[in-house]
Amino acid sequence: MNSPILSIRNVSKVYASGHQALYDINLEIQRGEIFALLGPNGAGKTTLINGICGLINLTHGQVTINGFDHVRHYRQARACIGLVPQELTAEAFEKVWNTVSYSRGLFGKRPDPALIEKILKSLSLWDKRHSRLLTLSGGMKRRVLIAKALSHEPPILFLDEPTAGVDVELRKGMWDVIRELKNNGVTIILTTHYIEEAEEMADRIGIIRQGRLILVEDKLTLMQSLGKKELALELQRPLHALPAALQDPHISLSADGRRLVYTYDSQTGQTAIASLLSRLYEAGVVYTDLQTRQSSLEDIFVDLIKEDA
Ligand SMILES: Nc1ncnc2c1ncn2[C@@H]1O[C@H](COP(=O)(O)OP(=O)(O)O)[C@@H](O)[C@H]1O
Ligand SMILES: [Mg+2]
Repeated sequence: MNSPILSIRNVSKVYASGHQALYDINLEIQRGEIFALLGPNGAGKTTLINGICGLINLTHGQVTINGFDHVRHYRQARACIGLVPQELTAEAFEKVWNTVSYSRGLFGKRPDPALIEKILKSLSLWDKRHSRLLTLSGGMKRRVLIAKALSHEPPILFLDEPTAGVDVELRKGMWDVIRELKNNGVTIILTTHYIEEAEEMADRIGIIRQGRLILVEDKLTLMQSLGKKELALELQRPLHALPAALQDPHISLSADGRRLVYTYDSQTGQTAIASLLSRLYEAGVVYTDLQTRQSSLEDIFVDLIKEDA
């Protein structure tokens, strides 16, 4: 096993107000992956990112970045990180080229115009290199922040809500940008409260809720193991109520009585369906059509939040 590029151990955060935003977070990020930290607003995503990146002090715990302790070896650890913050902050009158080059200098790196050119081109900002930031759209400003974060060639990039407030069309463009970064070998940790975004982008997903990391799982495993399937049957004659033989918490009848929905675990699929169909037959219920549907990450997430509440 390769050693993780980022290791977070027993991290907690209590703000000066007394509010505890993080509880005993443990997490390891592998080199080259895209990890999505998914959770509702106020869950503690930004607190965790800012704590890792040294923008705020953590109350407890250790963070090791590329082998460097993020407090004892702050400079080396910070040099391994590019951070694109949630809030769009940039010097409005600066020009794109200058602000990105300047960011590189902040990390004590020699100027490298060829690299800056490559970064700007990869983010479709080359044509805008002489534009002042205030003239750019929100989506372009976000890309400038990504360019700044990449200017010192960090192996790890944090993106805090990269598409919050970005419209659907541009969001897809941003996803392409992030995938491209991964292809170039950058390890990516992004936070999002859009389930769709985690489902689309991530190799692994961590779900955070009220300061607790309640689940960390490979995305596909998560979808398979927690995934439920639904079988929907269109009935030939509407039912007023479920017959006694079909009373089962997994079976529900639509309000108009025309549709019966059966929910089952994907693991027990075959047998579950066979037994349902024979029960229908015995109860004399005739159906004209049937469809199955795999639950999406959204259904899983809603279930998790519900069970944990
Ligand atoms: N500076 C602060 N002082 C006190 N509480 C804070 C501060 N910043 C954030 N919080 C609280 O900590 C919790 C987590 O916030 P945050 O990390 O921003 O969540 P997220 O990024 O998941 O939306 C929230 O309840 C928020 O109100
Ligand atoms: Mg946040």
